[in-house]
Amino acid sequence: MRELAPQHKALRVIYDDHDRLGAVLHGMLFLLRAIRDGGAPPDLKVFRAMLFYIRDYPDAVHHAKEDRFLFARLRMRTHAADAVLDELERQHADGDALIRKMEHALARYELEGDAAFPAWFATAESYAKFYFDHMRMEEETLLPLAQRSLTPEDWTWIDQAFLADQDPLAGYDSKGSLDRLFSLIVHIAPPPIGLGPAPKTPASTRSGAL
Ligand SMILES: [Fe+2]
Ligand SMILES: [Fe+2]
Repeated sequence: MRELAPQHKALRVIYDDHDRLGAVLHGMLFLLRAIRDGGAPPDLKVFRAMLFYIRDYPDAVHHAKEDRFLFARLRMRTHAADAVLDELERQHADGDALIRKMEHALARYELEGDAAFPAWFATAESYAKFYFDHMRMEEETLLPLAQRSLTPEDWTWIDQAFLADQDPLAGYDSKGSLDRLFSLIVHIAPPPIGLGPAPKTPASTRSGAL
């Protein structure tokens, strides 16, 4: 993965964004698997914060920039990327329904307790897989194609768009608020994921395995 040096600013933004989203998803899976393996649940607001981050970040900002700038310009330059762009754009379009499914499963777990945990766990696992597969397709297939096909002028235009802090659709300071939200997740997630308090009940059976 990431065989090509990210010499373009937009690529660095994309890789950084993917790293952060991956950290949130890995953290969510770690916490869920600890509960599944008998550990005490953490304060569930950590999951709400994670979903809030995912909804505000990939769906509202990252995907919008990919669609409007990188993908659109690549379609102008080559048809070699059409199939993968069709698939990635379809996955972007599915994002809203998938995050709503996650929010619903979490709400049921909060309201109904242990009986709703298996559904919340399964929904979150398949959601994380969906996003890891999505990011892998972009990094291993789409970005190398873009680097071969786009012109220096294309990259100048795309770099400017990706470096702008303003969300191109909503027009608010997304970067600052997302940085604060990511920091909040780190501070409320229990160890070893974050700096927050450990669950109150000792988790004697927790395996910690991912
Ligand atoms: Fe994407
Ligand atoms: Fe992406």
